[in-house]
Amino acid sequence: MTFTRAIVRTPCKRLAEGITTAGLGPVDTNLALVQHRNYCKALEACGLAVEVLDPLEDYPDSIFIEDVALCTPRGAILTRPGAPTRRGEEAHTGPVLEKYFGRLHRIENPGTIEAGDIMMVGDRYFIGRTARSNKAGFAQMAAFLESFGYRAVAVPVGDLLHLKTGVSYLENNILLATGALADEACFAEFDIIRVDEDEAYAANSLWINGRVLCPAGYPKTAAAIRAAGYEVIEVDVSEFRKLDGGLSCLSLRIA
Ligand code: GLY
Repeated sequence: MTFTRAIVRTPCKRLAEGITTAGLGPVDTNLALVQHRNYCKALEACGLAVEVLDPLEDYPDSIFIEDVALCTPRGAILTRPGAPTRRGEEAHTGPVLEKYFGRLHRIENPGTIEAGDIMMVGDRYFIGRTARSNKAGFAQMAAFLESFGYRAVAVPVGDLLHLKTGVSYLENNILLATGALADEACFAEFDIIRVDEDEAYAANSLWINGRVLCPAGYPKTAAAIRAAGYEVIEVDVSEFRKLDGGLSCLSLRIA
C-alpha cells in the first residue's frame, strides 16, 4: 500500500466550540493553526501531495475530516456522522472526493458511521461499534466494502470515541493498541505493540508509506515504534487532543 495524496481541512474560527470530553482546557486556535500546518508538513515528508480545503465555519469539528469518508483503493464512501452537529460535513467533502473517485457511495439514514471507527488492514476493514457508528451504519458500510471485494469485521470498542482512538495498524502485521483492544480476540493474529495507559493517546498513531506519525510527548510509544523498525515523525497535536481528536482524524489519505 502506497498513499499518494492527503486531503485536510483548515481549522475554522469556531474550532474551540468542537465536541469534547477531554477536560484539557480551552483550545488555542492560533496554536492549532500552527500545529495543523506542521501536520501537513509531516504528511508531505511521507511523500503525500496535500490538498488543503477551506474551513467550514458552521462545523467546528470539520477539521477531523477523516470521519466523513472512507477512501479505499477501490472506491470511496461518504459517511453519515453519528454526532448531530457534524452531520452535513460530508456533503462539503463529497465534491472534492469525486475528483479522485468518480461516483461516491453514501451511508443513508438510519445508518450512522464515522471513519475514525474504520481501520484498514489489507483487504479487511475492522469497524468499531461505538456511540457514533450504529448497527445500520455497519451493515451499509459492510455491503459497500463487500461489493468492492473487501471484508468487514465488527469490533467491540467499549467507551472510546472511535476504534482508532485505541488501535492503529502499522502494516507488516503490527498493531499498536491500548487497553482492552490490545487483548481483543479479533486481533489475536497480530504482533501487538502495547501502549501503556499513561500514553494511551499515542495509540492513535499513523503509518504512512513506511514512516509513522506519532503524537509528540509519548516517548515510550515512540521508542517502541522505532524498535519495531519504523522512522517516527513526532507531531505536536495538543490542541486537537483537547477536542478528542488525533493524528488519523486530521486527514483523508488516498492511495
Ligand atoms: N471533537 C471530535 C468529535 O467529537 O468528533
